[in-house]
Amino acid sequence: MALNYDEIVGKFDKYIFNTYTRQPVAIKNARGAVVTDVNGKEYIDCVAGIAVNNVGHCHPDVVEAIKRQAEQLIHVSNLYYTEQQALLAEQLVNLTDIDRVFFCNSGAEAVEGALKLARKATGKKEFIAAEHAFHGRTRGALSVTHKEKYRKPFEPLAPAVFVPYNDAEAIRTAITEDTAGVILEPVQGEAGVIIPSDGYLREVREICDETGALMILDEVQTGFGRTGKWFAREHSGIKPDIMTLAKAMGGGFPMGAMLAREDVASNFGRGDHASTFGGNVLSCAAALANIEVIKKEKLVARSRELGAYLMKKLKELNKDYVTEIRGKGLMVGMELSIKCEDIVGKARERGVLLNCTSDSVLRFVPPLSITKEQLDKTVEVLDGI
Ligand SMILES: Cc1ncc(COP(=O)(O)O)c(C=O)c1O
Repeated sequence: MALNYDEIVGKFDKYIFNTYTRQPVAIKNARGAVVTDVNGKEYIDCVAGIAVNNVGHCHPDVVEAIKRQAEQLIHVSNLYYTEQQALLAEQLVNLTDIDRVFFCNSGAEAVEGALKLARKATGKKEFIAAEHAFHGRTRGALSVTHKEKYRKPFEPLAPAVFVPYNDAEAIRTAITEDTAGVILEPVQGEAGVIIPSDGYLREVREICDETGALMILDEVQTGFGRTGKWFAREHSGIKPDIMTLAKAMGGGFPMGAMLAREDVASNFGRGDHASTFGGNVLSCAAALANIEVIKKEKLVARSRELGAYLMKKLKELNKDYVTEIRGKGLMVGMELSIKCEDIVGKARERGVLLNCTSDSVLRFVPPLSITKEQLDKTVEVLDGI
């Protein structure tokens, strides 16, 4: 017996922690870039589960891989070997050109692993992160997440220093004898789609090489084609020492990973880090299928092409309350001189799901498989608002 909207919300209100601001929609199913609510209303999805459903919702290849795997084996733990984990690790190493993989289940967990590894590898304690950075809500990840409101109730956190994004010299100045690493998003997501200036990440790479601080790139939001490259660090041609992945990795299935250069990874020995579900065989099967879809459907190039198309269309709107449109691939931010929550609500009523980040930035992170017609419709709806 299916619950109606009010019954669902009633149970949320009664039983679930009150930690999220939810849109008043209960979603029932989805396909590609369209989601349908419990009343049968359809929406073009420009949120994609917050940059997760890069291959589109319920991609048939991913669904098939999950079904097939679920019939054979769902979970065994890391006390044993599985073919799927081996194959996925090989794929990730080939795609990133980084030597080793530790599997986990979420972005925050990947960041936790990265911070622990950097501490163990360097024997140092402190991290440098960027102002407005977002790296997750667990305690380690929170210690390098900038927003005061998120951090304050949980202090003291691990030692971290925040410097302005896009200012490599500020990192040089902040590095001390006790700096284990520098953690950055190659495009800042939650901060409002902040694009690094040319040369920034290369300069940070040089500073880390000179000082011995490890460079950690958090590609949780930018990975798997989102910015028009497989990974956003390719835009600057650098390789981090440690890299974090999650979100779009499993085609919608929960999945995360932390990768590191061999001589850094080798500092983690048996028992130094672990996760019961990390590299779970079902999530590995989903991720393998997901990667194949991105390749087969050439979604990385599509992200580049459609990202440019969307930005052009948004610029043509020519509204005086739009202060900037910026993006890489299909990770696009439209900064407004007004708060954007109202616009999100009106767009939803007109059949488009949008996300507002940093109060005044509309963030577009739709499936990379979205069509030009769906993007046109999205822009038309915005124009109407
Ligand atoms: C760059 C970045 N790192 C880490 C995280 C945390 O990921 P999760 O919510 O899967 O823990 C996020 C989530 O938005 C993110 O954008």
